[in-house]
Parts: sequence; structure tokens; C-alpha cells
Amino acid sequence: LAASGCGKQETVKVGIEQNFRPFTYTENGDKKGFEVDLWQAIAKKADIKYELVPMEHGELIKSVKSGAVDLAIAGMTVSNARKNNFEYSSPYFQTGLVVLTSTDNGVIKSKEDLAQKVVATKNGSTAFNYAGEIQGAKIRSYSNVADVYNELKNNTVDAAIFDERNAHDFLQDKAQGQVKMVGEMFNKERYAVVGKKRNKYIGKVNKGIEAVSKDGTYETMYTKWFGA
Ligand code: ARG
Repeated sequence: LAASGCGKQETVKVGIEQNFRPFTYTENGDKKGFEVDLWQAIAKKADIKYELVPMEHGELIKSVKSGAVDLAIAGMTVSNARKNNFEYSSPYFQTGLVVLTSTDNGVIKSKEDLAQKVVATKNGSTAFNYAGEIQGAKIRSYSNVADVYNELKNNTVDAAIFDERNAHDFLQDKAQGQVKMVGEMFNKERYAVVGKKRNKYIGKVNKGIEAVSKDGTYETMYTKWFGA
């Protein structure tokens, strides 16, 4: 967006997360992930000048609301509840939730087995909302998903519910055979860029998303991060 008069382009502040692999994370100070790559490509197509602002998930929603950042790209699920306060871009990723439990747990085989169980999840996430509806489950929620995974590894909870791809990454990377995924993915979700209601950037972002889908950039990035 060219600011009138001076010919200078305004810098859009885009919130990302520090610890949501493989979508957006920081490693030795570098910002990485599928969403970081994707955002870069979208911004290039849409001619958006931007600055990435890494923060914790809990801060992201607040920062979009307060205007501290203009947009966020960080595994944000399009949810009807949030639609009252936020505006979403076209979705760019399909996913859902999964149940994790200890490798030696023979009782929990799917989300149907969580009644009366202690279930860990992340504050304010779609998984948290889902968990709250399980009859009789005892929910423990944390502001950092690393704590959710630690509880699982330490066997201090029976199960956890969280976003499928992030859980998958944890299993491969850090679970060391101690944790497994059980049952099918459920609660189909889609990630999109989020901004405040009536913000002036979403239209451009959508054009960028369309362009990277059409020219194969999206597919190349998808394969890079998630395999064929
Ligand atoms: N997709 C879920 C949600 O929108 C979890 C988001 C987690 N994102 C993150 N950056 N940690 O509630």
C-alpha cells in the first residue's frame, strides 16, 4: 500500500509464533516454518512490505485485537466464535485435532475413551474448546504447548488434544517413543491469516494466496515442509 504523497510503502506488522512447528518457529534467532515461507511468497505476490513479529500464541490474538500487529499467520483456525472479532483470509491449510497418549497406555484408543480422563491441552485453542465438551474429562490447560507435551512424556496426564501437524512434529522430534497418536483426526479445521475486523490488508493477502496457489509455489512449499 503506497502512503499517499511521500511514495513510501507502509510496513505491515505480521505476528508469527516462536514455537509452532513446522508452521512457524524461531531457531537460533532465525524465523522458520511453512507459514514463514508461505507468508514471504504471499507478500511478494501482493506487494506487501512487512515485518515479522514473533511472539507466543496467547499474545498473538491479543496483539491482533489491540492493533499491536496488523495480521497474524500462526496456525490460526477459522472459527465461528472468533469471526465476531476477527477477519480471516482465504484458508490455506486443512487440518484437524488428534489425541495423544503414552505409548504404553492400552485404554485410550480414540477420543471416545477420554471420559473421566485427565486431558492436557493449550489455553484458548480450538483443542481446548473441544476438550471442554468431553463429558467428565478433567481438563488441564497450559499457555505453552511445550508444557502439554511435557505432561504427556512425564505421564502426569492421561492424554492430550492438539493440532495434528504440530503433534506429529512433536512425535517425530521429541517424544522419543514415549508418546503415540491414537484414533482418527477429528474436528476438521482450516488455517488462515487473521486480522482485525474490517482491516485493509486481507483483500491483498487473498490475492497473494490465490497467486501462490496458481503458480505452483504453494505446492512446492507444501512438499518441502510436509512431504509429497
Ligand atoms: N489451531 C489452533 C487454534 O487456532 C491452535 C493454534 C495454535 N497456534 C499456535 N500458533 N500455537 O486455536
